[in-house]
Amino acid sequence: MVDIHSHILPGIDDGSRSMEETVEMLRVAREHGTTTIVASPHADTQYHYDPEHVDALIASATLLAGPGIEIVRGCDFHLMFDNLERALRFPERYTINGRCYLLMELSDLTIFSNTSALWSQLEEAGMKIILTHPERNPLLRQRFEQVEEWVSQGRYMQVTAQSLLGLFGQKALDFARLLLDRGLVHFIASDAHDTKGRPPRLDLAHRWVAERYSPRLADLLCIEHPKAAVEGRPLDLSGFPPAVAARKSGLLARLLRR
Ligand SMILES: [Fe+2]
Repeated sequence: MVDIHSHILPGIDDGSRSMEETVEMLRVAREHGTTTIVASPHADTQYHYDPEHVDALIASATLLAGPGIEIVRGCDFHLMFDNLERALRFPERYTINGRCYLLMELSDLTIFSNTSALWSQLEEAGMKIILTHPERNPLLRQRFEQVEEWVSQGRYMQVTAQSLLGLFGQKALDFARLLLDRGLVHFIASDAHDTKGRPPRLDLAHRWVAERYSPRLADLLCIEHPKAAVEGRPLDLSGFPPAVAARKSGLLARLLRR
């Protein structure tokens, strides 16, 4: 499996606190079936994001972790002016593996009315938006139609693995299920911060989706889409439930009638 969102690198955000913990997190990930993991430290007002420093930490962690797991760079991009300006100039410093997908986190407190317009600027510069854990955002949980519209506009949704296990509460689980029911989830990622409370594991969420939806969807969300994001390829959306395609074409038809 491929995990596109994690805080496995030491000392640069609220994730791993030491290289020992990093190596242990990588061991947990590898033991539970993850073969590639994106180290995506926060880039926000609290934590400074420095891609060169991240690359150096990845090189050290790769050596210490040994074979069987690959680490690539990404970042947990907070939508703020400084980040936006820099990402427009140097997209590859922020995107997953320097390709085209950008992990985007929205504030729990405010969602700017010009969010979509700001994303369009990033998209015009070649980036594709992956919104991280909408199910954990109390504002977005009140705005299902907004999420649906964003998806119809080509934005992607990443749900946290532990949300599906109920570990972020009933509301997050219910919203994640609603999004899955409507075919609005494209990725599952761990958003790991440590080895136990928030571990780098996708296996349980993969099984959860395989049992409740289908093995094919579980593979798409935990393997194929994340792999495509790391490699900078388009996602295969043909495997999504037919009901979703119908909803999308219904939406498209409404838009075209306008
Ligand atoms: Fe994160």
